[in-house]
Amino acid sequence: MVKLNGSNKIKTAVFISGTGSNLKNLIQFSFLNKSPIKISLIVSSNKRAKGLSFADKYKINRKIYDFNNKKKSESLTLKQLKMNNISLICLAGFMKILSPNFIKKFKGIILNIHPSLLPKYKGLNTHTRVLQNKEKYSGCTVHYVNSKLDSGKIILQAKVKISKKDTSSSLKKKILKQEHLLYRKAIKKVFFSL
Ligand code: GAR
Repeated sequence: MVKLNGSNKIKTAVFISGTGSNLKNLIQFSFLNKSPIKISLIVSSNKRAKGLSFADKYKINRKIYDFNNKKKSESLTLKQLKMNNISLICLAGFMKILSPNFIKKFKGIILNIHPSLLPKYKGLNTHTRVLQNKEKYSGCTVHYVNSKLDSGKIILQAKVKISKKDTSSSLKKKILKQEHLLYRKAIKKVFFSL
């Protein structure tokens, strides 16, 4: 295996909108020698995102664009990606939909983590819908991003058993734990073909 140091790691941008537990996990992963990524940029669609505190804590360059004016925000984002030589974007709780134009223009890889066993439960409020439908299992998926919502090629999934006592918040917690393991594994799979 190639020995990785800070300078030959894949320059990565993480896009967030909220708490940023996946961001924190990816930052901690990036510090490991065996990790193929270096996080060089954080993009938030929300100026109040708690996850922005990790940018400050770990001194990572960060940009905030509200994505309400999608064209302008995406164009500014693309400029930042270029300036920072980014070749991987990890969406991590990013609650905005990137336009087909953005996806076409960015020449690197875009990955997303979604809290369901895709292709089931695309979109929002997954845990509530899963519980309403009395599913026995749920989980999470890391997939490539294409122009259709939550529909790109699946890289890896983790399954979680739902107990009768689960609420949407307990299920969210259980699944987040798996998300953190899964995102690391999926990145290794993409770059080391494990
Ligand atoms: C995670 O569960 C992630 O899978 C989900 O938002 C949460 C963000 O948590 N993403 C989506 O629903 C995207 N459609 P975090 O901010 O603590 O990483």
